[in-house]
Amino acid sequence: MHQFTSEQLSKLFEFLFDSFICLDSEGKVISCSHNLAQVASGGSLQQLFPGLTLQQLDVMQIHLQSVNELLKIPAMDVELSAPLKQQLAGTVRMRVVSIAAMAEVLPGYLICFEYEQLASAESEQLQRQLQSMKSQLMQSEKMAAIGQLAAGVAHEINNPIGYVSSNLQTLSEYCHQLIRLIERLTEIVPAEQLQPILSEHDFNFMRDDFHALVQESDEGVQRVIEIIHALKDFSHSGDEAFVQANIHRGIQMTLSIVNNEFKYKAEVVQDLAELPDIECIPSQLNQVVMNLLVNACHAIEVRGTITIRTRQKEQWIMLEIIDDGKGIDPAHLDRIFEPFFTTKPVGKGTGLGLALSHSIVNTHQGRIEVESKVGQGTCFRVWLPLRQARIAAD
Ligand SMILES: Nc1ncnc2c1ncn2[C@@H]1O[C@H](COP(=O)(O)OP(=O)(O)OP(=O)(O)O)[C@@H](O)[C@H]1O
Ligand SMILES: [Mg+2]
Repeated sequence: MHQFTSEQLSKLFEFLFDSFICLDSEGKVISCSHNLAQVASGGSLQQLFPGLTLQQLDVMQIHLQSVNELLKIPAMDVELSAPLKQQLAGTVRMRVVSIAAMAEVLPGYLICFEYEQLASAESEQLQRQLQSMKSQLMQSEKMAAIGQLAAGVAHEINNPIGYVSSNLQTLSEYCHQLIRLIERLTEIVPAEQLQPILSEHDFNFMRDDFHALVQESDEGVQRVIEIIHALKDFSHSGDEAFVQANIHRGIQMTLSIVNNEFKYKAEVVQDLAELPDIECIPSQLNQVVMNLLVNACHAIEVRGTITIRTRQKEQWIMLEIIDDGKGIDPAHLDRIFEPFFTTKPVGKGTGLGLALSHSIVNTHQGRIEVESKVGQGTCFRVWLPLRQARIAAD
């Protein structure tokens, strides 16, 4: 029978396993894969695997009839020496095998390592990070696509709604004039002549209804214009320039605008830290603060508290807007940043507030988090970097 030299065997193992170490029956290293040469050559079981004895190796060893069976054996966690661990780049799973057919040429132990079956906590965390980055990427791609669509729609609707609005004003003026004209006629023309004509045309009803109709239509048009503006803001959240500014000024300004709405609903508690100026687009951040504050206020059903908290954490600043309102249904949590997602009655919310805020925070290379408990309240937390990392093209 052909006898393999130990060199030939090494080549074969190198081909079969990511990394391997062959030990003789005393636990001395006979050979190892190329990548482990520096840390394993000339070493021993004790040096490489502190805490592992030959007896344990015997127990762990699984006798195979053929190499094909290799993948069926469970991998195990073993403590590795520091240099070996480093060389294996975090691999902690290994199998100890003896191949029956090779018993003659390999009387000791074969320890093989796998990279891809890493199931350590570290790799799980990496997987989670990857997953979260993927979904963030998808979210921002979705936002960009919707932004473009929104810009197109806003542009298309802007012109017609502009002339509908201005024609409505003119039309309303004309109708006022016509009504006045008819009223003047009632002073000149004898009533018995004019009244039957006016009744025939339902003049009194038309005159009264006209005001309500015009006012309702005007409100409708104004609402459409508001939505168009929101859509435009949403799609243009990248136009203005970054400057150094303190977000506290923006918070105060925004508070003074919304104060009227808040007066009867919420006590505003400010828990503000000393903050440095950050590189930002202040008008956009004000919009984020405004959206979050208005949402918080809407979430409060009778009376409650809204807390505004700011902190600096190393190279980041944190802004929290916390309410003790009705909270967010867990089934909605995944959807609140979607454009047009709203639980508010028709005409009350466009569902663009959080989508817009998310896109603005993204533009600032920050992130926005939410924690909520139904019946207890909600906390929106915005993280913003002190400085904007420049992309290469800048
Ligand atoms: N602080 C909060 N507490 C409870 N629910 C909230 C809170 N903030 C947001 N939500 C939920 O998220 C939904 C989406 O919010 P978003 O600000 O995007 O839209 P909206 O407030 O409904 O409309 P608008 O476009 O006028 O802001 C809300 O309809 C509400 O259901
Ligand atoms: Mg909102």
